[in-house]
Amino acid sequence: MNSAIITGMGYYVPDNIVTNEDLSKIMDTNNEWIIERTGIKERRWINNDESTSSMALEASKNAIADAGIEKSAIDFIIFATLSPDYYFPGPGVTLQKELGLDTIGALDVRNQCSGFVYALSIADQYIKTGMYENILVVGSEYHSGGLDKTTKGRGVSVIFGDGAGAAIVSKSPSAERGILSTHLHAQGEHAEELTLIGPSTRRWVPEIIDNDGKDDQAIYPYMNGTFVFKHAVTRFPQVIGEALIKNNLQSTDIDLLIPHQANLRISQFVQKKMGLSNDQVFNNIQKYGNTTAASIPIALAEAKQAGKVKEGDLICLAAFGSGFTWASALIRW
Ligand code: COA
Repeated sequence: MNSAIITGMGYYVPDNIVTNEDLSKIMDTNNEWIIERTGIKERRWINNDESTSSMALEASKNAIADAGIEKSAIDFIIFATLSPDYYFPGPGVTLQKELGLDTIGALDVRNQCSGFVYALSIADQYIKTGMYENILVVGSEYHSGGLDKTTKGRGVSVIFGDGAGAAIVSKSPSAERGILSTHLHAQGEHAEELTLIGPSTRRWVPEIIDNDGKDDQAIYPYMNGTFVFKHAVTRFPQVIGEALIKNNLQSTDIDLLIPHQANLRISQFVQKKMGLSNDQVFNNIQKYGNTTAASIPIALAEAKQAGKVKEGDLICLAAFGSGFTWASALIRW
């Protein structure tokens, strides 16, 4: 059987930096609260001419360049997002068109913060079976337009940011290198603990308009923060442990853990529970906030650029988020 390897990484973030200080001018919050509870110092908010798929396009171009392949070598696209350009179709087709990739297939993944790892797992299976040779896997999110930026929404809106990351997943030339395993989980009973209800088939647009939209909290993301936190700090170590056990490895074997950038306190808790050193964990939530499906590929691309991901390294990706969904991937780089 083939094995699948990540041959290129790329990311894109809008140049519009929004600091905690900026947020404190539009809602009742402050730099100290945000840093203490989340570790976030600033995040990026999209410019008017950008979109989920336009950020994905830039990240994809960077990943293609990093892989050193022609874009025509890509034979499939997997696009993870919770903030698509349109209700339908999903943004995979827009990206396919923008890249000029003829009629190759484009699959959209709806698994929120775990979206990139779920998408990577799908790519891994397609490469293993020999169906495709080079798959573009993208995570991109445009949160800023849909947040409640008043004091009512501060518990959620200070956390999320916009951005995109992309990977080229290819057939590995060596059986020793590549994705060793992926582990996917979900617990739908907690779907409404971190959710955006409308617009959807549960809350169609005419109903929101009839209610004079503005006071309808269903149009903004809802998060039961404490509940999410408690589950995250349990599920992250579990799913990382599951990957290590599957491959007869220990946490000391991990060269770099890239956790989904949910909250710096969550990452630090996981680091402590797994007994990992500062050098073994990569965080960049301080600069970008939580970018959901984009957070892991942005972090992986930055870590690679910084020389922290080298051939032969054992890289662990782990995610937890809305659904609830959680997932991990272990990669011999
Ligand atoms: N600025 C200032 N004060 C804020 C605030 C903000 N942005 N957001 C909430 N507060 C206030 C609350 O109103 C509350 O005030 P009160 O005690 O007077 O009622 C107080 O701070 C504590 O709120 P609480 O929600 O209990 O804080 P917390 O310590 O649980 O931290 C989160 C909130 C969201 C940071 C935390 O729950 C968390 O990190 N959860 C996980 C979130 C996450 O990772 N989500 C993504 C998953 S993919």
